[in-house]
Amino acid sequence: MKHLISPLDLSVSELKDILDLAGEIIRNPKKYANACHGKKLATLFYEPSTRTRLSFEAAMLNLGGSVLGFSSADSSSAAKGESVADTIRVISSYADICAMRHPKEGAPLVASTYSSIPVINAGDGGHNHPTQTLTDLLTIQTLKGRLNNLTVGFCGDLKFGRTVHSLINALVRYDNINFVLISPDELKIPAYLKEEVIDANHIPCQEEKVLENVMPQLDLLYMTRVQKERFFNEEDYIRLKDSFILDSKKMEYAKKDMLVLHPLPRVNEISNEVDKDPRAVYFKQAEFGIYVRMALIMKLLEVEPC
Ligand code: CP
Repeated sequence: MKHLISPLDLSVSELKDILDLAGEIIRNPKKYANACHGKKLATLFYEPSTRTRLSFEAAMLNLGGSVLGFSSADSSSAAKGESVADTIRVISSYADICAMRHPKEGAPLVASTYSSIPVINAGDGGHNHPTQTLTDLLTIQTLKGRLNNLTVGFCGDLKFGRTVHSLINALVRYDNINFVLISPDELKIPAYLKEEVIDANHIPCQEEKVLENVMPQLDLLYMTRVQKERFFNEEDYIRLKDSFILDSKKMEYAKKDMLVLHPLPRVNEISNEVDKDPRAVYFKQAEFGIYVRMALIMKLLEVEPC
């Protein structure tokens, strides 16, 4: 049995298989309408979510399966003190596969060691978010046409942004990738990522504090929200929350075919006026999340279309 806890749990070849299957599902959704008939997905969300939980549920329903679960720790027996280990032992007999989001780094990994069904990490604290990475890769592959030869700018909260951490881990495995990291000093990516992932893979990497300075060189701009829920004090959050705001004026500096991605939710970091720019693809990106999660569920359950 296979779990998805880190983006590195999938080889480049397995990633390609999932992205290819997601593409087939987009082209011919009816073929997959019963692929998971009789199967159940449990969504165990100890932290808020809109896209991840609902797109997982939509994915399983689109495959003809069923869903059950909880959307907050408060509405589960975690509120009474139950451990993740005990919860997953029980859920293993209620469902065939589960997606878990948890505020503590490593909680889905712990769950996977006690589980007899595949566990998918749907976001663990400031650590990883591998299914957002699959969503991002499908978006880039589909709308940009390639996963190599890219200069990728990551902007905003690179310290706590788990989507950034996971996507960096995934992209370093493709050819001719360059990173531009745009953040205030307090929100730089963790040192382990810079040293053990970016530098260790010899990825050219520039660090910058002014977004306009680097806009002309980017093929992709990955904007992120400052993660209020991970700050220890509100003063720091208020000081840093509007460090970068992408607006139409800044978009004038960008290449004609640069794409703007954002895992969403957005707060202030992209002005609404940017939404009508054809290079702003974050809502399309959220839509791709359903198809790639359908493909992932099929692969982990080892089911074929019927
Ligand atoms: N991108 C993402 O994880 O969104 P949600 O927090 O709404 O699931």
